[in-house]
Amino acid sequence: MCRAPQPIKKGTMDIEITKSSGILRIVFNRPDKKNAITGAMYQAMVDGMRDAEADPAVRVILIAGQPQIFTAGNDLEDFMKTPPMLAESPVFQYMQQMIRATKPVIAAVSGAAVGIGTTLLLHCDLVYAADNAKFSMPFSQLGLCPEFGSSLLLERSAGYRRAAEKLMFGEAFFADEALQMGLVNRVVPADQLADFAQAQAMKLAALPASSVRATKRLMKADDRAALEARVTEENLAFSAMLRAPEAKEAFAAFFEKRKPDFSRFV
Ligand code: COA
Repeated sequence: MCRAPQPIKKGTMDIEITKSSGILRIVFNRPDKKNAITGAMYQAMVDGMRDAEADPAVRVILIAGQPQIFTAGNDLEDFMKTPPMLAESPVFQYMQQMIRATKPVIAAVSGAAVGIGTTLLLHCDLVYAADNAKFSMPFSQLGLCPEFGSSLLLERSAGYRRAAEKLMFGEAFFADEALQMGLVNRVVPADQLADFAQAQAMKLAALPASSVRATKRLMKADDRAALEARVTEENLAFSAMLRAPEAKEAFAAFFEKRKPDFSRFV
């Protein structure tokens, strides 16, 4: 079981996907752009997760980034050029694939996890954070609204007020608070995160796969319909807001490295 990881997908090199020892690893690998996620990267992850579902040799999915950055979230330039349309767009396909995953998904978060970098964690079964992890969901700062079911799931794990604070202000918070909020299972020293997450994935992969899958299915069963309905509602609002002047101002300000000015919008 100690084979070297086998690359299974050429596609974009910005997402690295390998399979080894029953674990499919999805790694954000676009450090020059802080691992910001483009449509092509979402598509690579969708393909990888579909392959994981179909391949009986895969028992666990492990998502990771780089030591200093998990991901800066959606690529803002890509988003402006090709705002997602409903259902068929790679980002929405990715959300659906994560929500419907039948195999356990583990995330190992090191450095900043922005936007969907934080909200995707709400769909993972186990989340391990390095002590340098920094989370944020700056949707309102960008003239947007919560996505990926975060308007439902964050409140469930953290309570309404804490969730409202994180989603309305969009300010960053750190690993210890994420632990209190139930967003992560455990915080480990940054230099131990990769080995710890890999060991947890291997431990899970050694258990009877049918038991692990049944556990996930039963625990998620009640929430599934409500979650899918909420994601559809969020996506409608998000897509419209992405085309509105507030988001255009916020995105332009980011690339012009200045503060946005929302004073002219009511
Ligand atoms: N989309 C597109 N490009 C991004 C990006 C994103 N989400 N995040 C970072 N980048 C790019 C920057 O434009 C910059 O490119 P350049 O070198 O060509 O100028 C490069 O990545 C490095 O980013 P920089 O901001 O200089 O790094 P930093 O270490 O100072 O800050 C972050 C890191 C993640 C805190 C900061 O980049 C950030 O806030 N990014 C935007 C996050 C965001 O709003 N995501 C969307 C949520 S919906």
